Amino acid sequence: IPVEPFDCIIFGGTGDLAERKLIPALYQRQRAGQLTEPTRFIGASRSQMTEEQYQDFARNAIKAHVKPDEIDEAEVETFVKRFSYTVIDAKSDEGWDTLKNLIGRKPARIRAFYLAVAPSLFGEIASRLKAHGLITRETRIIVEKPIGRDLQSAKILNDTLGSVFHEDQIFRIDHYLGKETVQNLAALRFANALYEPLWNNAHIDHVQITVAEEVGLEGRAGYYNTAGALRDMVQNHILQLLCLVAMEPPASLEADAMHDEKVKVLRSLKPINTSNVEDLTVRGQYRAGASAGGPVKGYLEDLNAESSNTETFVAIKAEIANWRWAGVPFYLRTGKRLAARVSEIVVTFKSIPHSIFGESAGKVMQNQLVIRLQPDEGVKQWLMIKDPGPGGMRLRHVPLDMSFATSFNERNPDAYERLLMDVVRGNQTLFMRRDEVEAAWAWVDPILDAWEQNAQPVQGYTAGTWGPSASIALIERDGRTWHESV
Ligand code: BG6
Repeated sequence: IPVEPFDCIIFGGTGDLAERKLIPALYQRQRAGQLTEPTRFIGASRSQMTEEQYQDFARNAIKAHVKPDEIDEAEVETFVKRFSYTVIDAKSDEGWDTLKNLIGRKPARIRAFYLAVAPSLFGEIASRLKAHGLITRETRIIVEKPIGRDLQSAKILNDTLGSVFHEDQIFRIDHYLGKETVQNLAALRFANALYEPLWNNAHIDHVQITVAEEVGLEGRAGYYNTAGALRDMVQNHILQLLCLVAMEPPASLEADAMHDEKVKVLRSLKPINTSNVEDLTVRGQYRAGASAGGPVKGYLEDLNAESSNTETFVAIKAEIANWRWAGVPFYLRTGKRLAARVSEIVVTFKSIPHSIFGESAGKVMQNQLVIRLQPDEGVKQWLMIKDPGPGGMRLRHVPLDMSFATSFNERNPDAYERLLMDVVRGNQTLFMRRDEVEAAWAWVDPILDAWEQNAQPVQGYTAGTWGPSASIALIERDGRTWHESV
């Protein structure tokens, strides 16, 4: 469905995010016929560039980041003609009048400012947008994580944005929420009668959420070393996944209905602090090894530093202290340079209360629902069945298996495609509300503090493995094992 014409102004227009994600995503929407006339894009950054040069930048971004069979030359040309460019300095008044002229006086038109820049510039840009009279009621601002590096800095950032924009104009991106399979979590839980009655501590033994990556620092060492896996992945992506798994059924898919339920989950997370942090968390840092098909360096070599206590892996045993989930552990783990790239949610149901099968039938395994978010997106419901054949009753664990690739003959759109169009539609369901971001930090902060106070060191793990052995011990201590993802 086409969206209304809009202007999208990308600060950091010549940066990595614009090149790898935003321009390709907008191009895909053009190809899908979703952009209407006269939709315009304006790149803004400090680099000296002409409009033609920026259009070339956009062309190259498409060549580099869109599959060759999805590139249609005529469509690319129509698309790049939408781009203009302005040199702008977030820290001075240079370029702002030019930007204002480029945008023109069309207050009823949707205007989206995408801040693909360091968060330290959010405040400056927001106040200059205001000072130069660039904010209309139809203006939206899009910001990326990290929203702060702890609760206090997140609040300051939210206050700054809030002093210039209304909450319904602020779109805080967590790109995981734009992923098809993540959106599918709501469908799976709330469009099926099957799971909801079982979705609680009476029937679920535990939940695992894994977001494993093969990549290392990808040229972002400076940022990453000040962040670490807990801030980079858990505070946002993993807690968002946890919320979608654990939240109560919202009244509707409306943004506030969803956000209200997610906030409740975040606020119910049991605190982890100096008293229990060592039992409930594991921090790791990769050492040289082999990953993604070849030898790779260790974190310190990648960083070019003698020492660093930044974690590139974290595993956490979390609990949600409410009626539905009391006593059900949520084991979370994420890391760089792990054995495989895989994100998945595994819900393990309780054992049967009593077995009528003799020993010769084999072990009755617990039912598992495995939601594979990426790659090879799909859902598997593992069940016990009788092994076919006349040899008596032998049990076997098999999946009811739904793979998106084989079930649907459709291209899997990138998260940004959906999210950018939602900004234009003014739909905030898949974005983070202020209180959600802050509630997530409120749980994460004491963990960070406890690590610091207890001087909890990172444990080395060989690149290409599943992280430090302590992470295996974390779950095995409870008589459980990590789901084997590959
Ligand atoms: C980003 C993190 O938010 O998500 C990166 O900053 C990480 O460190 C990335 O690599 C993972 O996203 P995806 O979509 O590749 O799973």
